[in-house]
Amino acid sequence: MGVLDYLRASSIVHSIQQYDLVNTPEFQKPVWLPVSGTIPPWLNGILYRIGPAKYNLGDQNGKQYMIRHAFDGLPFIHRFELCSKQQKVRYNSRLTAEAVEKTLVSGNSNNIFFGHMPDEEQGWGRFAKTIQRLDSTLFRATPQDVTLLDPSSRAVGVTVTPNYPLPKALQKADSNDRVLVAKSDYNMLQQVNEDTLEPQLLFEYNHYDKKNLHGIPTAAHHQYDAETGETFNVLVNFGRVSKMTIFALDHTGTQTRVLAEITHRKLANGDTSEPILLSYIHSFWLTKHYVIIPESPLHYGNRGLDVLMSGTIVTGLAWKKNTPTYLHIISRDTGGLLVSLPTDPFFTFHTANAWDTIDDKTGQPVIHLDCCAFDSADFLYKLYNLGQRDATESTKDKKKTTPIEYRGITIDENNMPTSHADLRRYSVTWGDKENKATSTTITPNVEFPRFSQAYTLKPYQFLWGCQASEDDPSRSVLCKVDLDTGHVTRNTSKGYSFSEPIFAPRPDATSEDDGVLLSFVNNVSDHRCLLVIVDASTLEEIATCDVGDFTATTFHGSFVSDKFENISVN
Ligand SMILES: *[C@@H]1O[C@H](CO)[C@@H](O)[C@H](O)[C@H]1NC(C)=O
Ligand SMILES: *[C@@H]1O[C@H](CO)[C@@H](O)[C@H](O)[C@H]1NC(C)=O
Ligand SMILES: *[C@@H]1O[C@H](CO)[C@@H](O)[C@H](O)[C@H]1NC(C)=O
Ligand SMILES: [Fe+2]
Repeated sequence: MGVLDYLRASSIVHSIQQYDLVNTPEFQKPVWLPVSGTIPPWLNGILYRIGPAKYNLGDQNGKQYMIRHAFDGLPFIHRFELCSKQQKVRYNSRLTAEAVEKTLVSGNSNNIFFGHMPDEEQGWGRFAKTIQRLDSTLFRATPQDVTLLDPSSRAVGVTVTPNYPLPKALQKADSNDRVLVAKSDYNMLQQVNEDTLEPQLLFEYNHYDKKNLHGIPTAAHHQYDAETGETFNVLVNFGRVSKMTIFALDHTGTQTRVLAEITHRKLANGDTSEPILLSYIHSFWLTKHYVIIPESPLHYGNRGLDVLMSGTIVTGLAWKKNTPTYLHIISRDTGGLLVSLPTDPFFTFHTANAWDTIDDKTGQPVIHLDCCAFDSADFLYKLYNLGQRDATESTKDKKKTTPIEYRGITIDENNMPTSHADLRRYSVTWGDKENKATSTTITPNVEFPRFSQAYTLKPYQFLWGCQASEDDPSRSVLCKVDLDTGHVTRNTSKGYSFSEPIFAPRPDATSEDDGVLLSFVNNVSDHRCLLVIVDASTLEEIATCDVGDFTATTFHGSFVSDKFENISVN
């Protein structure tokens, strides 16, 4: 990225970064919280939530270092242990990046943030940090072994995954078999103690397979096939040849399998001359026979160099106009890229379910792929204060700025997008008879989709998620979508801002939606947060646990039974 480009990006970001974001307090010692309403007798287990929580760093009152992008707050994990017998919830939470805080406060950090751009990084200081970042990622001859580092020295805070397989070499014979791993969009995994939440170990995908698993970006959301026990992910390689590596880990963490290394698209007409864009991939799809990777026009500029130069992912990303999104279909049976099917340009943070079938008429494979799709990248610059304040309040006394276009992305501070993504189903087929990718929008304005884990890789009817509220877009309301009819049920309970709802089925469930949803909720006007349990079928509240007089932002979570079995894992 040229110097002028960079200055422009940094001035935009600084103008958006004008709000102080609020810290979430830490509860390292567990507290037992009472519940109003009733926890169903069958609902016993542990809910983990993860998200950005600490923005004002340093000692209590001195604001020694401030993080100004909502995504980049240093991560917390929250743990809720539901106990129906006592009708209580045992709650604790913990900052999982203590050593990162120390280096940021001391000014020695060369971190790459999602969107936070440090104020003080100007002139030579900035230049020096750029060199450090380049050095520590691209040019290091012998990569450092992160397992030797302080386990809290990286911020790993997007997904929290119980029972994730650990690399064989890092498994300790005597240790607790309850494994909890935090994941992010870059190649760094963090094992934390499932009870105290204390960071235990940092590792990378190359610890599963030194030879084949390299790359900096990866998908924060893995995929998992319960039938085969395999865990899937993708690594994106910056460097001379742009490459995506799609791989599977077995359930023991011993065997890895590289399914495909993609450098060029494989068009249906046999053309393999177009190199791929290095897209930002936050999640992807899995079916019984295929892995499907979306290559969207939202990509790392200059083969990743821009991210390293600017130190933020947001300013390092660009949207390539008039370029389709390619859906790369990879075979699980034989390995290898089968075909890359173009469709209208879109980007997705969050895929939902997917399944494959055979078309009766053509005999060709068909795959259905659900996701929350954006048609441009204009949402990227509105993510700065995620769930932290009222949108109307934040625009009220702001000076008017003219909209600009930056690297294919329109930034219009006075006219930020007010709704979430479209919930969309893409259907693809390929073979001798026809090659196509089509889509239908099921309903607009849906994010953080979840569904019953029992239906993974199978046709399903219900999806739950969040919608931006009509009267205040910064508030998320709960929704349930009937995918067959498109009918949406909402709970717009006054004052509640819901986080991603996690579905737990009743053990003897009689229908797909027979169970509950768990959501960590902020009551923004009241400045309180609560754990709310609602009936998944009707969205009626059945139990509430008042957690405290603070608000907390969390992206994602997982729920396991009291025996630590997967119930809804992300
Ligand atoms: C539980 O889920 C994780 C993540 O999807 C997976 O890696 C693990 O193998 C699963 N464990 C079981 C016993 O299903
Ligand atoms: C949220 O807080 C407001 C203000 O105290 C209160 O009036 C409202 O009832 C709360 N909402 C819920 C759903 O508890
Ligand atoms: C939403 O939840 C509240 C609290 O339980 C309940 O009173 C209300 O009926 C629910 N709304 C809908 C549409 O189900
Ligand atoms: Fe996500």
